[in-house]
Amino acid sequence: MNSVSFRVFDSSDDAARELAAEVAELIRSRAAEGRNAVLGLATGNTPLPFYRELIRLHQEEGLSFGNVITFNLDEYLGLERDHPESYWTFMHRNLFDHLDIAPDNVNLPSGTVADSEVAAHCAAYEDAIREAGGLDFQLLGIGRTGHIGFNEPGSEKNSITRRVHLDPVTRADAAPAFGGLDNVPTYAITMGCATILSAKRIALLAWGDKKASIVKAAIEGPITDQISASFLQEHGNTTYFLDRGAASLLA
Ligand code: F6R
Repeated sequence: MNSVSFRVFDSSDDAARELAAEVAELIRSRAAEGRNAVLGLATGNTPLPFYRELIRLHQEEGLSFGNVITFNLDEYLGLERDHPESYWTFMHRNLFDHLDIAPDNVNLPSGTVADSEVAAHCAAYEDAIREAGGLDFQLLGIGRTGHIGFNEPGSEKNSITRRVHLDPVTRADAAPAFGGLDNVPTYAITMGCATILSAKRIALLAWGDKKASIVKAAIEGPITDQISASFLQEHGNTTYFLDRGAASLLA
């Protein structure tokens, strides 16, 4: 039987502290070996307490990101890097600007790549991950459609980095930040399910009652391309970090 492990915390801050300690240990042990740590990162509301804790570990406990290479899951197509809602902006505002990470070690898909260049850009993103040595760790949130990255319903388990059409539910969830649905991009570039599943270690974070039913479906339901998070059941080294709300419907 496939299974995925989960841990339930009193608060998202408690969960974030625990996970940040794990990631800090990965970074430090790699540094001690003279090697890089390759982190796959996510945007959205969910990772914010985790990023705050990483910043605290850097600023107060001297954790260096000098040996860290990052790859973000996704980026909206049609947004310039400096657009206030681009994931480039989000990641710099909420994490990278506060760390000693080398700018060249930060990787996100481009939001402005020309249509004719999308396929080559996505292939180059996959190559860059491989050349960095593969993802040591991948951070995930989960969308109400069950997506990880922007792998919306119908995304195949063997999918790799590509252009995707955003689900109406996902666009509606993003509408307030964009000041209305009409301003939300229709397409994005996302790592595929196979890209994510190639990570040696995966942590999926979810907070609050609103995520409880999709978390239950992803953990306890059938493995299906209608809920890309369900593929994590077959990964072997994935842990869900949940608060009580997000875990409230689990058997
Ligand atoms: C973000 C991403 C998405 C989000 C998901 C949850 O890079 O790829 O899968 O993790 O939509 O978003 P929040 O955390 O805002 O609920």
